[in-house]
Amino acid sequence: MPENVSPEIEALLKEDRSFSPTDDFRSKAHISDPAIFETAAKDPEAFWAGFAKELEWIAPWSKVLEWNAPDAKWFVGGKLNISANCLDRHVRTARRNKAAFVWEGEPGDRRTLTYFDLYRQTCQFANVLKQLGVKKGDRVALYLPLIPELAIAMLACARIGAVHSVVFGGFSAESLRDRINDSSCKVLVTADGGWRRGQIVPLKQTADEALKETPSIEHVVIVKRMHGDTVSVHVKEGRDHWYHRLMQDASYECAAEVMDAEDMLYILYTSGTTGKPKGIVHTTGGYLTGVYATTKWVFDLKDEDVYWCTADIGWVTGHSYVVYGPLANGATVVMYEGAPDWPQKDRLWEIVERYGVTIFYTAPTAIRAFMKWGTEWPAKHNLTSLRLMGSVGEPINPEAWVWYHLHIGNARCPIVDTWWQTETGAIAITPLPGITRTKPGSATQPFPGISAEILNDKGDRVPVGGGLLAITKPWPSMLRTIYGDHDRFVRQYWSRWGRDIYFTGDGAKLDDEGYYWLLGRVDDVLNVAGHRIGTMEVESALVDHPKVAESAVVGRTHEIKGQALAAFVTVKEGVTASESLADELKKHVANKIGAIARPDDIIFAADLPKTRSGKIMRRLLRDIAEGKALGDTTTLADPTVVAKLKDQYESQE
Ligand code: PRX
Repeated sequence: MPENVSPEIEALLKEDRSFSPTDDFRSKAHISDPAIFETAAKDPEAFWAGFAKELEWIAPWSKVLEWNAPDAKWFVGGKLNISANCLDRHVRTARRNKAAFVWEGEPGDRRTLTYFDLYRQTCQFANVLKQLGVKKGDRVALYLPLIPELAIAMLACARIGAVHSVVFGGFSAESLRDRINDSSCKVLVTADGGWRRGQIVPLKQTADEALKETPSIEHVVIVKRMHGDTVSVHVKEGRDHWYHRLMQDASYECAAEVMDAEDMLYILYTSGTTGKPKGIVHTTGGYLTGVYATTKWVFDLKDEDVYWCTADIGWVTGHSYVVYGPLANGATVVMYEGAPDWPQKDRLWEIVERYGVTIFYTAPTAIRAFMKWGTEWPAKHNLTSLRLMGSVGEPINPEAWVWYHLHIGNARCPIVDTWWQTETGAIAITPLPGITRTKPGSATQPFPGISAEILNDKGDRVPVGGGLLAITKPWPSMLRTIYGDHDRFVRQYWSRWGRDIYFTGDGAKLDDEGYYWLLGRVDDVLNVAGHRIGTMEVESALVDHPKVAESAVVGRTHEIKGQALAAFVTVKEGVTASESLADELKKHVANKIGAIARPDDIIFAADLPKTRSGKIMRRLLRDIAEGKALGDTTTLADPTVVAKLKDQYESQE
């Protein structure tokens, strides 16, 4: 147990406690009758259609679901527009003057956009995109800091039927280039820079590198985030345009395009088991229904709430729970651009206090960092406005859960540990805060209408115990394909058991009360600080370095990040392994992919342990990286390799 675990937490952990909703919370919650699970299970289509009916449709659907496994069509024939559901619908009511986004930049600058402001700016930017030649179905890449313009650009794309592809601002030029090219984006929207831990992230400069090899890009729009000349920006005549100049002349009126429920809404790239990220495709009607329903019920979202999901919009959590889900519900959403420890380690708590945040949703990595920083930071602030807290992105260890409960939630707020994926589009396993008795470390149960099950290798249901997490019925916000590679979609997700069973890539365990405990990935995908990283991607980046012959990347436990990357590397003939080479390789990976993929350890090895058939023995490498005793090595081609590796690893530590 880490040293900073207080006696209070230790006692709680030993108690094997569970936490029931208080009578007060339950009596006010949107949903408090457990019968809903059965109702939804009996007729999931009717259950989802109930939520869809709360949204605004231009034309009704004729059929809720058409399922030709693994291809699903939800709300067949229905017509709608997502931006109209997130904006116009509210602007016609008293929500017109309600804050949609309360934004704070890292340096301390602040902006509030009402629903009416957001509506107008979205319409204007939609007109800008049209003027730049963007039409329904065209792809637009967004490479921006966490500023309101990112949400505006997404909503503007959705308004005119263009498909957005958001690329997280921490990704490298090469990652941006590959994502732009994979879906032939026509326009790129970026910024002169963003702020992160007091430093300028020069997005346009990075984008310029990418733009050298992106033939499909016709125009680039640059948002001016920096003041004066703090960062130099190259503006290419005819191709590059300043956002504020284009907006000046743009009309406030832009009719929302009539979209089919199954028209593509966005592409979001995520790592898989090969070197090439997958462009996950989400469509319009089902996705909106899924994020609308889960935001409303999982966060028990009410009009009076001040809701804050700390995720960057560059990840799916930001798409679903910063932009579409909360806005479809007419929420007030807090957005903060920068680092949680800038200028001090209480920045987030200062923000909670300043805006009276009521719902707070973050990742276990952040919670573990808060634990390490100590309770004095949250204790400086009045956090009594909080009434519900969430966790997402990786398994949360019980210590972190209990710490969050005690020191942020003041032992008062329910915690929702939400399991889902880029592919599921919306939360799939989660407590319902007015119903569920929670257990620290368990995501508890599938959301009503979601058939998540634990199966063994043969596809039989595991009633109690461990297995593979599967989803056995289609759900509205499910991915529809991998952009440009439907075969990969079928192979990757729908081939483990049968065409009608979705394989999540996660292992999980069911306890005797039917609670789900997520155990992490079972494939070659790692989860580092809540970010998905494919081992193959990092390996490809390493072997791209001229001094590297071969590499194998594995995950090892990390106190804060959950997992860290350990890269085993063999160098080419004549190259000497050294500390400076290790640094060079780490930098190389960060340049190729982005800082999130930078390995924590580089372990030089004379050779990599392989089976007789030439497969790298990853389990063994994992054990070595963890410093565990070695397992059975009899299947190794050259058993001495492992011993050498182990010695080297230990001497490098
Ligand atoms: O392994 C699971 C883990 O994150 C993976 C999905 O990553 P990504 O598509 O980037 O989406 C992250 C945000 C939804 C899953 O396959 N994961 C996500 N949430 C949890 C989780 N693992 C355990 N508990 C969670 N609550």
